[in-house]
Amino acid sequence: MRMSEDGKGGANRMWGGRFAEGPAEIMQRFNASIDVDKRLAAEDIAGSRAHASMLAAQKIISAEDLAAILSGLDQVEAEIADGRFQFTEALEDVHMNVEHRLSELIGSAAGRLHTARSRNDQVATDLRLFVRAGLDRVAVSIEDWQRALVDLAERHVETVMPGFTHLQPATPVTFAHHLLAYTEMAERDKGRVSDARARLNECPLGSAALAGTSHPIDREATAAALGFDGPCRNSLDGVSARDFALEAVSTCVFSALTLSRFAEELVIFSTPQFGFLQCSESFSTGSSIMPQKRNPDAAELLRGKAGGVLGAFTTLAMNVKGLPLAYSKDMQEGKEPAMNALETAEDCLQIAAGMTAELIVRPERMAAAAGVGHATAVDLADALVREAGVPFRDAHHIVGRLVAMAEAEGCAISELPLEKAQSASAAITAEMLDALTPSASVAYRSHIGGPAPSGVRAEIARWRKRLGAGAQ
Ligand code: ARG
Repeated sequence: MRMSEDGKGGANRMWGGRFAEGPAEIMQRFNASIDVDKRLAAEDIAGSRAHASMLAAQKIISAEDLAAILSGLDQVEAEIADGRFQFTEALEDVHMNVEHRLSELIGSAAGRLHTARSRNDQVATDLRLFVRAGLDRVAVSIEDWQRALVDLAERHVETVMPGFTHLQPATPVTFAHHLLAYTEMAERDKGRVSDARARLNECPLGSAALAGTSHPIDREATAAALGFDGPCRNSLDGVSARDFALEAVSTCVFSALTLSRFAEELVIFSTPQFGFLQCSESFSTGSSIMPQKRNPDAAELLRGKAGGVLGAFTTLAMNVKGLPLAYSKDMQEGKEPAMNALETAEDCLQIAAGMTAELIVRPERMAAAAGVGHATAVDLADALVREAGVPFRDAHHIVGRLVAMAEAEGCAISELPLEKAQSASAAITAEMLDALTPSASVAYRSHIGGPAPSGVRAEIARWRKRLGAGAQ
């Protein structure tokens, strides 16, 4: 069966001059992108306004045509906003749907809008605008999460908890210090977002299909009207570049991976075995069979969504791999993963911000776990170095022997009788053993980047300045 936008089987009115027939039904469906790119309608209309205004300023179209086009576009925009607009698959994509409706509304002036323009530079411009706005929302969402982290950290500067390596007890830290590690990661993620945004911000409009146009256009004007820093400097690159989308999605991947690590810890720390944390009810779910369940689904989904975001990156990379210049229809397939990845990243960050703000913290459970596993052993070695001049490697060996003794006795090294401890080294004193608490361990680490409350308070003050007022 042959199809057309009027359903009568004739050739397409936008490009069908050379065609006697419409496409096969299956081709119409296969070729259409309207279900995806109707999400670009606002950007498409903004691009058309900028283009039409430039055409009129350059006297390529008349002032009357411009007025008709602008008022028609206002109406199209209103129809889309309140759901009255009829998107048609036969009109393939958002560009032709909008133009077709415009021609119904204003007649022949609509036919002048596409002067000096192609859907190739249109779609490249629309997608850049969409991705740019998405990146801006991701950046704002990263900051929302960072504020939630800093707010929570402020309440837990003195809350000692185990620091882990290999997920085995290593050396005590504080919960605030732990949270600020994620604040740092998020800051780098935000830096990648702003780098991507800066590189993206060039306008393809005027590249037309691939080789520019013979009309006397003003590309600086359209670029400025759409908030770009300037026009893309090569028309072939203008229509065929999609690395801006790939780079934007890569920033989403970084952010999703950061969140995935955070989420994994929420899952572990909220098990009864750890009991350090609990997710609030508003970010938890129950079980349809086990009445007692309270599951950290939001955290698990943060972990799970990272796969989809990385999948979008792979899809986009494969989408452009091996494409010759300039435009190829393959690119139509790159829009959906790019748009979805940006939205997923934003959602994930908002979920993380909400979860963090409402996290239920159990400082007593963290404190009880902080000293487990001879976590302060290195502090005794450091004391032997500091107070008795023992070389660190020897001190390490001495404390290792103490750990073996304590394990044999089933006690902590600080609980070993002094004489027994001194059998490993006469330099060990009762004060050294008494000082082996998680709080003392943390307080010693007061250099830049350490967990001591004094340093962490200074870091929190630095973040406050940088991030502005609290989220709540
Ligand atoms: N629907 C197309 C896309 O999304 C628009 C550009 C089509 N250009 C073309 N010459 N067929 O990429």
